[in-house]
Amino acid sequence: MKELVKQLLYERHLERAELVRLLSNFDQELLSYINDCARSVTITHFGKAIYLRGLIELTNFCRNNCFYCGIRASNRNIERYRLMKEQVLNCCRLGDHLKVRTFVLQGGEDLAIKDFIVEDLIKSIHREFPYAAITLSLGERSQESYQAFYEAGATRYLLRHEAANRDLYNHLHPDVMSYDNRIECLHTLKKIGFQTGAGMMIGSPGQTIEHLVDDILFLEELNPQMIGMGPYIPQRDTPFASEAPGSVLLTLMLISIVRLMFPKALIPATTALATQADDGYEKGILAGANVIMPNLLPIEYKTKYSIYDNKEAVHQTTKEQIENLKKRIDSIGYFFSENRGDYEP
Ligand code: 5AD
Repeated sequence: MKELVKQLLYERHLERAELVRLLSNFDQELLSYINDCARSVTITHFGKAIYLRGLIELTNFCRNNCFYCGIRASNRNIERYRLMKEQVLNCCRLGDHLKVRTFVLQGGEDLAIKDFIVEDLIKSIHREFPYAAITLSLGERSQESYQAFYEAGATRYLLRHEAANRDLYNHLHPDVMSYDNRIECLHTLKKIGFQTGAGMMIGSPGQTIEHLVDDILFLEELNPQMIGMGPYIPQRDTPFASEAPGSVLLTLMLISIVRLMFPKALIPATTALATQADDGYEKGILAGANVIMPNLLPIEYKTKYSIYDNKEAVHQTTKEQIENLKKRIDSIGYFFSENRGDYEP
């Protein structure tokens, strides 16, 4: 099996059957080995710099009803909010003070957040923090909207594909959501010129190893600049509330595989990974990740963006969280970069 890892390291590619073999049969020793290989690839391209992306969860209104997600439209048990412009700018001001150089405007698919509102936010953030990067994560929109956001100054867009296998996609989403549209959005974003992020949950209900291999092969074809992956975590008010969470070890395996295939990609140690393992951030970085996404929301909002249960750090202030993260990554010999951390081809 180590031969497969070496092949992946040198060729950045494995055939479907080889990927299936790697994902089905690995033990702790092989996981450590691939984590070490992936980590050294990350260090070759990025050194020991970790990039902070400050998450600003604009709105938890969402028109969709993804079966796994706690902010789904029909969840009546969460309090909905929408931030005002000044609140968003205050998140940026705090983030800026704490050396965050990327702001991620994330939200549910909230029809009230019209294009002109997003464009105005982008321009206002850009005016006040011209050296910072603006990332959007607002779901599926039209090509025209994406183009307008790009022209307003956003340069990155996160839109996980969620499942590259059509049947699994349909198992995770209601009929009104379209697999084809999601994939098309990703191609549109890339074509416009966004540094584009795709990704999937690990261990989502119904997901098999073959499905994960479909995801890997899809990523290979799309060739995104950013790849976000975290374990599935049940949320109590969803149809999947009693499904089992995804495996931390499998997530670490996927991070390493993806790092070996995409040496220069920006790959986060996700909040979901940190939620499922006390040392999830450290483990993610040691498996080849190089991004952490702390939450910049005021504490009274942090608990409301409840896409899954027991989310990491929702009871800490932003300052506490970032200071704590600093110590944690310092303890494994890494540091927070004060650069934007754009994708470098
Ligand atoms: N568990 C883990 N990740 C989730 N996401 C949504 N719901 C869950 C959940 N229950 C992920 C999706 C989405 C990202 C913002 O969070 O992949 O794209």
